[in-house]
Parts: sequence; C-alpha cells; structure tokens
Amino acid sequence: MNLKEACPVLHFADLGDERGKLVVIEGGEAIPFEIKRVFYIYGSDATVVRGQHANRESEFVLINVAGSSKVRITDGESELIIELDKPMTGVYIPRMLWKDMYDFSPDSVLLVLASTHYDGKEYIRDYDEYLTEINRK
Ligand code: TYD
Repeated sequence: MNLKEACPVLHFADLGDERGKLVVIEGGEAIPFEIKRVFYIYGSDATVVRGQHANRESEFVLINVAGSSKVRITDGESELIIELDKPMTGVYIPRMLWKDMYDFSPDSVLLVLASTHYDGKEYIRDYDEYLTEINRK
C-alpha cells in the first residue's frame, strides 16, 4: 500500500489575526469524516509508546496542538513515520492500519479526532492478529 497516499498530511486553514492563531476543523470538510469523538493525550514522556493497535472501524486524524510527537503507521509491509509538530497540520489514518505514537515532547498535547464512538471490540491490540486479519501471514 502507498501509505503516503493512504495517510495524507492535512493542512488546516489558519484564521488567525493579530490577536493570535485560530484553527478550525470541520468534520466532513477539512477531514474526510464526521467527527464522533475527540480525545487528547498529554503527559506521555519520550520513553512511552502508545497506540500499538489497529482499528477495524475507526478513522482518525492526529494533530499535535502543542509540542511534538511521532506516529509510525504500517500495513504490515510498508512503514510511514510522520512527525507531528504543528497545530495547523494533522495526519489522516484510515481503518485497519497499525499505528504507534512515540517520542512525545514534554509539552506534547496530541489531539485525536475519531470517526466513531469508542468501542473496545473494534481495536486489534495484537500485532500477529492484525497480520492475520489483513491476510499477510
Ligand atoms: P488506549 O487505546 O490504550 O490509548 P492510546 O491508543 O491512545 O494509547 O486507551 C487507554 C484506555 O482508555 C483503555 O482502557 C481504553 C480507554 N479509552 C476509552 O475508554 N475511550 C477512548 O476513546 C479511548 C481512546 C480510550
């Protein structure tokens, strides 16, 4: 899979002015799904690896609204590493890709927009199981 095409980096409009920056993300417009869930991750240090799962249903957009982190995305064959370090930039991750988030800066606030409500059953947390489900084993 061409992961750069599958997981585009998205650039959001800056509506800021002399009072400061303003970034607006409208579901279905700036990103390719309606937003059903928002969560954010902070207080993870540089030694922590988060994510480590694939989702059967959920699509995500990841944005470091402060600080920086990296996300490694794989389909079991190719690998894409994106550094997230701009509040106006995010990465879209479609369903059924494995992802790890790591290298969190001390001030990192990683905002995640999701296309679904939380359902633990749609998470694949075992890498071998993931490979089996995508028929690469
Ligand atoms: P986890 O999936 O490990 O977080 P991440 O992928 O960001 O590293 O989630 C940690 C815990 O929080 C786990 O018990 C599931 C729960 N959780 C929810 O209840 N709702 C959510 O939307 C998310 C992302 C996690």
